[in-house]
Amino acid sequence: MNKDHFCEVVSKSMLNGDTALIEFRCPEIAQNAVPGQFVNVASSNFLRRPFGVASVDKDTGTFKVGIKIIGEGTEELASMEEGDGTWVLGPLGNGFDINGEKFILAGGGTGVFPVNFLYEKLSSEGKKVKVVQGFRDKSQIIMNDPSYILTTDAGDAGLKGNCCDGLNTLSDDDIKDAVVLCVGPMPMMRAVASWADSKGLKCSVSLEQRMACGIGICLVCTCKIKAEEEGIPFEHKRCCKDGPVFDSKEVIW
Ligand SMILES: Cc1cc2nc3c(=O)[nH]c(=O)nc-3n(C[C@H](O)[C@H](O)[C@H](O)COP(=O)(O)OP(=O)(O)OC[C@H]3O[C@@H](n4cnc5c(N)ncnc54)[C@H](O)[C@@H]3O)c2cc1C
Ligand code: FES
Repeated sequence: MNKDHFCEVVSKSMLNGDTALIEFRCPEIAQNAVPGQFVNVASSNFLRRPFGVASVDKDTGTFKVGIKIIGEGTEELASMEEGDGTWVLGPLGNGFDINGEKFILAGGGTGVFPVNFLYEKLSSEGKKVKVVQGFRDKSQIIMNDPSYILTTDAGDAGLKGNCCDGLNTLSDDDIKDAVVLCVGPMPMMRAVASWADSKGLKCSVSLEQRMACGIGICLVCTCKIKAEEEGIPFEHKRCCKDGPVFDSKEVIW
């Protein structure tokens, strides 16, 4: 299947000073993407830049990505406007296993974009979902919903503390038999994985590595994953092709 599509921007909004939400028209990606998958987006820079799919609309044939400006590529892509277009390769990678009935979603940083897609999909299927979002401070809050448990390190919005402090406010009923899905900065995912472990819950995380090809060829994005074979401490897996979603117990933090 050809996964490279020329996509037109159909809408763009700034969520805060440095983060844009861009909606592209692409019926193939809108139809086929599942939460946790990403797209590799071309700019005038040499390599494409990966972004988690934040939302899809199968009826209009559009999907959204959130782009936080941190360098040249993201600056150029976040400046795209309605009517502009670019090449987008996707959907790529393996998404989350969402076969259960009860989920706890934890998101931080740009991880709130894939968490948004997870929430849309799981709630549309009538599954039980609790969402915890963690931000540095009030100015960073994006993609928030009043039903979410919100935490800020600074304590200027929501509960003062980190994502795990938010998770600790969940009731025994919320926690029992839930599956934890987490996307965010590595220290946050590590802490959430440890929290899930302490409650005996299965947890999947989405690893973020620098990427180039996005399709498993260049080996730029390798990460250390526990080896299946006894006697070998770890093996290198390609984050783009074998992940980006992994069982948290397999990750060598
Ligand atoms: C699977 C995946 C999903 C992603 N989803 C999103 C998303 O939904 N929204 C979003 O805004 N960003 C996301 N990112 C990160 C995004 O791809 C990078 O921010 C982007 O590629 C940076 O491009 P740039 O040209 O602006 O920065 P560059 O000029 O390439 O780099 C600027 C600085 O950021 C660092 N950097 C670049 N990429 C990464 C990275 N992946 N991890 C850590 N540090 C990095 C560089 O080392 C450098 O210091 C995702 C990354 C991956 C791998
Ligand atoms: S980015 Fe090339 S192998 Fe993953």
